[in-house]
Amino acid sequence: MADSSGKNFFDGEDFGDAPFRPLIPKYYPADYQEYIRQETESLKAKVGGAKRILEAGVGIGRLITELAPLVGEFVGVDNAQRMLEESRKVAEKFSNVRIENVNLEELSKFFPEKYFDFSLCVWNTLGNVKDEVVVLKELARVTSESIFITTYLKGTLEKRENWYKTVGINIRNIDEKNEIFYSESGLKSKSFSPEDMGKLANMSNLQLAESKIINDVMLWTELRAV
Ligand SMILES: C[S@@+](CC[C@H](N)C(=O)[O-])C[C@H]1O[C@@H](n2cnc3c(N)ncnc32)[C@H](O)[C@@H]1O
Repeated sequence: MADSSGKNFFDGEDFGDAPFRPLIPKYYPADYQEYIRQETESLKAKVGGAKRILEAGVGIGRLITELAPLVGEFVGVDNAQRMLEESRKVAEKFSNVRIENVNLEELSKFFPEKYFDFSLCVWNTLGNVKDEVVVLKELARVTSESIFITTYLKGTLEKRENWYKTVGINIRNIDEKNEIFYSESGLKSKSFSPEDMGKLANMSNLQLAESKIINDVMLWTELRAV
């Protein structure tokens, strides 16, 4: 049976041996393809030249090829078997990338304090975790400069519905009031307003450095230690 953390989803229950379309932008509708393009450009500009970066929830390693050539070391963590296998295949092509099986709620057990210059928690990974504040506090412990987060933007239910349909995810239920999608395979996917992110930053003792909306579908937030 699917669990609430989306483990079966990220282990590929909806897709079997087929490509994991939710993390492959060429399968997306145009508005989300454009979000990915803009997010990638912003991340390149922000982390280029860093000594060490973390991607929290590395997925299939989509960003490794984009960012690893620009930084000293790229560490990707995940806790879903399929994601670890796929991202490790990408990582093999780079000498400065390592992938670790780590729960985002326990980052500070695995990495020293302020080990990374920058951490990334993008493509709504924060909207998939059990407790956002626990994860943000853990990111803060291991990051010395900024934490970059992208999440689904509240007020985009219709566009999200189209995205799920286009990539082939079977939705079991939509909580329209709170704008949360639940898939048959156990994915729970929340969304956030700029105010929600401000509150989460406060609760995690982090400072909001930048907030911007990307292509009317996603919310970009840069957080820093207070
Ligand atoms: C929406 S995907 C984003 C993947 C990647 N960042 C990208 O942009 O393509 C979220 C990823 O976070 C991972 N994840 C979710 N909760 C996690 C947790 N508690 N610990 C570790 N990884 C987690 C999932 O397995 C999945 O690979």
